[in-house]
Amino acid sequence: MLKVTNYLTKTYGQKDGWTLAAYERDLEGYKTARQVLTSMTKEQVVDEAKKANIRGRGGAGFPMGVKWSFMRPHPTKPAYLVINADEGEPGTHKDRTIMELNPHSVVEGCIIGCYGIGAHVAYIYVRDELHLSKERLWAAIKEARAKGYLGRTPFGKDYPVEVHVHTGAGAYICGEETSLLNSLEGRRGEPRLKPPFPAQAGAFGCPTTVNNLETIAAVPTAFRLGCEEFSKLSTLHDIKDGGVRLFGVNGHVNKPGVHELCVGVTMRELIYDLGGGVLGDRPLLAVIPGGSSTPILRADEKVSAPDEKNPLHKWHDMSVLDVPLGVDTFRGLGTMLGTCCITVMAEGTCPVASMHNLMQFYRHESCGQCTPCREGSAWLLRITEKILDGRGTMEELDQLHDVANSIMGNTICAFGEGTAMPALGFLKKFRKDFEAYVKGEKTKAKNGTLAMGSEFATRMEGH
Ligand SMILES: Cc1cc2nc3c(=O)[nH]c(=O)nc-3n(C[C@H](O)[C@H](O)[C@H](O)COP(=O)(O)O)c2cc1C
Repeated sequence: MLKVTNYLTKTYGQKDGWTLAAYERDLEGYKTARQVLTSMTKEQVVDEAKKANIRGRGGAGFPMGVKWSFMRPHPTKPAYLVINADEGEPGTHKDRTIMELNPHSVVEGCIIGCYGIGAHVAYIYVRDELHLSKERLWAAIKEARAKGYLGRTPFGKDYPVEVHVHTGAGAYICGEETSLLNSLEGRRGEPRLKPPFPAQAGAFGCPTTVNNLETIAAVPTAFRLGCEEFSKLSTLHDIKDGGVRLFGVNGHVNKPGVHELCVGVTMRELIYDLGGGVLGDRPLLAVIPGGSSTPILRADEKVSAPDEKNPLHKWHDMSVLDVPLGVDTFRGLGTMLGTCCITVMAEGTCPVASMHNLMQFYRHESCGQCTPCREGSAWLLRITEKILDGRGTMEELDQLHDVANSIMGNTICAFGEGTAMPALGFLKKFRKDFEAYVKGEKTKAKNGTLAMGSEFATRMEGH
């Protein structure tokens, strides 16, 4: 059942929602940080955080509390908390709403996070073109500092905490955590080999936790409610996917937007109850679940989990639209929840044109460091373009699979998979459409529906 909440979004519609006054008035702002810093040890903070079952909101879904527990004090080096607010994933537009409409939740989350992991400094890495986001974060930090919530003795506690905003020039690869760290240090934004992981050697070679902005903004709510209680708000609490989170719905829906909901809501609820249904009352063709890097699901797909041990068994034979949106449930469907901002595609959208649009993006954004990604993304684009132009062959259609498969697992960072997986998804789920182009049954000129593809493209670009 659809459970709309407003733990994070209560300040959203208000004319002073981003100010300290609103945060203190409506969300008991900074009371939780005060309580945590003055009554808990850092070990207790991490143990408590684990109970929240907050799965990282940046895309990979790693449990936040477990990540915090990887931080070990270093004899000579300081620790850092780095907040990822690059938000370059097409179709994803949730972190920006928090920065613009409830920035104090981020600052309070940083205070609790720094204390828990043993850091005194948090950097929030924001892409530069998000002007209002930067302004609101700067203002929030200034207000918190003026009140003594940041600085040498926050809430009177001898545990200095500072929060800084660092701007990035707007490259998708700089959202990848190790590229982000390079960029933060003033280097070229290229991914680093792992290990060492950031907890061992992150920012400036020091132990670092990188959290997505929404992940850290959820922390004050979780600690205010009690982390276990927070987790139980989710219908997927029993499989350790807890709490509430922001769900985005965009693409071909009547009401695109961002909603705060208990984890476990379904795509059907997002599209029809909150998104106002498919644009122009058209049937639904497909959904890309969480940002463009996650493989597409067809609306007519059903869950196939005949084995009772399979966690998806509960939904066996049901439409994928009725499976709760969760990190592990969607992995079970052969896709990913990713950033949890779904892109809706109405019947009539051209899958070939849509894949072409996506491949343009990935080709452009590949940093070029790894050959399989640099060359592979170029070939994926080139061949898809040929097919779309009616010049492709069946052999080349098969080559698309080969190219995508040769990217998988062969790159330094997950950008490679983020390119190859959606390509393989389109090819698997819409093979007939690709074949129709090769056979000349569909062409750009003949395909009257291509406009929908272009419209989709525009929306994806203008996310
Ligand atoms: C190409 C690429 C782009 C990414 N972009 C973002 C991003 O914009 N924001 C983000 O939080 N995570 C992004 N990630 C994921 C981060 O590498 C990292 O997993 C995340 O910031 C960790 O935070 P979390 O555990 O709170 O989700 C990206 C990953 C890849 C491979």
